[in-house]
Amino acid sequence: PMKGQPYRTAYHFQPPKNCINDPNGPMYYKGIYHLFYQYNPNGPLWNMKTTWAHSISYDLINWVHLDHALNPTHPYDINGCWSGSITILPGDKPAILYTGKDRETHESQNLAIPKNLSDPLLIEWVKSAHNPIMTPADDIGPLFFRDPTTAWQGPDKRWRVIIGSQINGHGTAILYTSEDFVNWTRSESPLYSSNRTGMWECPDFYPVSVKGIGKGRETKYVLKASLPGFNLQDHYVMGNYDPQTDIYVVDADFMDSALQLRYDYGRFYGSKSFLDSGKDRRVLWGWIEETDSKSADIEKGWSGLQSFPRTVSISKSGKQLTQWPIKEIEKLRSEEVNIHDTELEGGSVLEVVGITASQADVEVSFVLPNIEEAEMIEQNLVDPQLLCSKNQASVKGLVGPFGLLVLASKDLTEQTAIFFRIFRSHSKYVVLMCGDQSRSSLTYDVEKTTYGAFVDVDPASETISLRSLIDHSIVESFGGGGVTCITGRVYPKLAIDNEAHLYVFNNGTQSVKISKLSAWSMKEAQFVQYRNEENLF
Ligand code: FRU
Repeated sequence: PMKGQPYRTAYHFQPPKNCINDPNGPMYYKGIYHLFYQYNPNGPLWNMKTTWAHSISYDLINWVHLDHALNPTHPYDINGCWSGSITILPGDKPAILYTGKDRETHESQNLAIPKNLSDPLLIEWVKSAHNPIMTPADDIGPLFFRDPTTAWQGPDKRWRVIIGSQINGHGTAILYTSEDFVNWTRSESPLYSSNRTGMWECPDFYPVSVKGIGKGRETKYVLKASLPGFNLQDHYVMGNYDPQTDIYVVDADFMDSALQLRYDYGRFYGSKSFLDSGKDRRVLWGWIEETDSKSADIEKGWSGLQSFPRTVSISKSGKQLTQWPIKEIEKLRSEEVNIHDTELEGGSVLEVVGITASQADVEVSFVLPNIEEAEMIEQNLVDPQLLCSKNQASVKGLVGPFGLLVLASKDLTEQTAIFFRIFRSHSKYVVLMCGDQSRSSLTYDVEKTTYGAFVDVDPASETISLRSLIDHSIVESFGGGGVTCITGRVYPKLAIDNEAHLYVFNNGTQSVKISKLSAWSMKEAQFVQYRNEENLF
């Protein structure tokens, strides 16, 4: 990272400066990955007048920043080119659907296509003369009609797309259909709506294969909604979708499942997935907001990151999703250290030496020889985040807290703890995962939330695994093989660059065993600018 910029990242996606938010229109097209994103070309804080910035990559790791694809230029988008998606139409023709903010800041959906399909980078995009192509009917508020998904074709060959909205205060995925991608008709019923939430931003809807999980159907459909009313959280539901009738029946409503399904129980918002047809996988991007102050963002000259891209698949239980950093990350690994079969007695802290702890990838798995000593809780009656907030890493337990101390100063004054506690609830064990940022920085005016969620694994029969991607001011953690993810932004004062350390700890009275720990220093990803256009960033 640059001098005087300890919070810039080495392998997370970010432009040279200014504010970024939602990922837009990610796709894999003719051997190239494209990422567009909400970008404020005029400063480090969010502003309504966003553009679509555009970058390309061959490996989702190293990026070339291109010219912006969409700028606010027309009456229907003069106050901003807001979020949207790409659909690859027959004949290999990508098409952008995005939300425009007009003179009165009202929202509509708009179409743009590449100016020149023979340009392999698809640098220039032209807006359709038919824009706006979807405008809100009377029952939809003009400020509640945005963020079109990738469209899909039904058996009748008509295109379908959903738009994020709220109707009568309830989150709604409005369904539109079209024969030609230009003329769109609103369906009578939304694809889905829920009175458990307010406005849905950035909806996403896609199939996941349940092959090999022993369920009747081959495919489940995931519906994700970004909830501004819930402190910027991405929640999802899973269910069965009938493409003949467009009826979507969920297994459990938003907030309803025992696991309160979310992509990430920390910072992660406005996300969007795409089908990577080259590798036959679904890849997810999410916007990771800053949690420092606005004045700090102005001083840094930038705000916002994209998550490291994650593959998404269905979990073993079939009840939730599993996320995992894309395999290409392994290219960035350099020095490696390993620890095997090591007992961590109650109260012990073990430093992992030999890697760059400010820029690392760590995988660890634990076995619990004394699991039957776990404390009792009534799982249905506790909020996991609250449980973590009341029992931070410094609070001793029986089986746990055990886990990692990342971005820690040598003397542990600063530390971000990602850890587990094991409980018993009736006849089963319950695994709690926490991301404790309370001691992450000596700076006062940054958020230091403690995040928490349950992990759907059985610690009596499996090891408990944790993987953390550490990158200067971001820590993305994957518990239980990726069934529970917690991402945090932290701003250490002492634990920066070579002063950062990594530890494994156990603050329970019972000992736990590290069955295996591997940690790697990570190389920097390459970010270059296609043209040296002074005014681009
Ligand atoms: C979500 C969001 C979207 C909108 C975009 C504007 O973070 O508010 O609903 O399209 O950001 O930048």
